[in-house]
Amino acid sequence: MIFEQIGPAACRSYLVGCDETKRVILVDPLAEDVGGVLERVEGEGLTLDLIVDTHTHADHHSGGRDAAERSGAPYALHATTECRGVDERLEDGRVLEVGRERVEVIHTPGHTPDSLTLRAGTHLLTGDFLFLAQDGAGRLDLPGGDAAAHWDSLQKLSQFDDVHRVWPGHDYQGQTDATLGLERRRNPRFLNVSREEYVTWQRAIAMPTPVWMLDVIAANMGTAVAHASHHAAAETAAPPDGASCAPGGGASEGGGGGACAAGPIASIPLVLPEEAHRRRAGDAAPFLLDVREPWEYSGPHGQHAVGAHLIPLAQLPGRLEELPTNAEDEVLVICKSGGRSAQAAAYLIQHGRRRVFNVATGTDGWVACGLPIEN
Ligand SMILES: [Fe+2]
Repeated sequence: MIFEQIGPAACRSYLVGCDETKRVILVDPLAEDVGGVLERVEGEGLTLDLIVDTHTHADHHSGGRDAAERSGAPYALHATTECRGVDERLEDGRVLEVGRERVEVIHTPGHTPDSLTLRAGTHLLTGDFLFLAQDGAGRLDLPGGDAAAHWDSLQKLSQFDDVHRVWPGHDYQGQTDATLGLERRRNPRFLNVSREEYVTWQRAIAMPTPVWMLDVIAANMGTAVAHASHHAAAETAAPPDGASCAPGGGASEGGGGGACAAGPIASIPLVLPEEAHRRRAGDAAPFLLDVREPWEYSGPHGQHAVGAHLIPLAQLPGRLEELPTNAEDEVLVICKSGGRSAQAAAYLIQHGRRRVFNVATGTDGWVACGLPIEN
């Protein structure tokens, strides 16, 4: 089997394929590495069958679509992805035939809804579903993250014995890989806790989403123009990958974001729920934007401030046309308690809106005040 980890830096890409037929797939290519990787593939007489991103990346620009256009090989993500320009949507259990080798697709959501793991023999390419040792796993508090789904995904690993090897999408300690057996003993994500305890633990360590990540997500989804030749963190003076990693806490993926997020967020004007409701009742009612996830907005466990328009935070960059066209029109942003809405408000201000207010205390506060809600 051809199996190669590319990149000694914090972001890892992989070439996986068949020694006999020289057919390979490329996994998680970085935007800035595409040219070099394709030259290498050609120079070594390899044929590129497929390019796979293990998920919609938030911390760096993917080179997946660019590599597909340059090479002619199809570009694939998990079937649930919201990325545009995807040639193949991979379902759980799909087996990719790469020459004489077989690569299995395992849906492992949690870090993102579209996270997948690829299994080639005993190699597990886990993307950001699982990192090594104290790095734990990719953040579960970014847009689309779901700690309960991540716990469920971890249970799927029970089918694999200890000799399997974990090859992560990032490593911040200079490690390359480790056996699943070792990870089961040292990785905090394998602590024997219930699903409910896991969710509580992850909520306790949740951090805000850095605003610059929304732009990266939008670029990788194909809903904004990608900055193809630069790493997002370098471009935006955010901490480089790993510098802000919080080992064991799962707060990795170049996250942290305090330095880049605190400035614009600190200056966003707040309104309390009563004031937001009063403004909504007047003539020229402001637009009320709810940036939570759909399950929080409606359904058995959802509810929202009456008249709120749902655009989940991760989708905001691609759905700006749903807001009032006049940049002077007032927009009130609400989430659960005021964190995500602050991120969204900062994003809107950075993209030209003049009158944006964050609803302090969020929908929780709205409900506590007895203001009208709907489901
Ligand atoms: Fe990620």
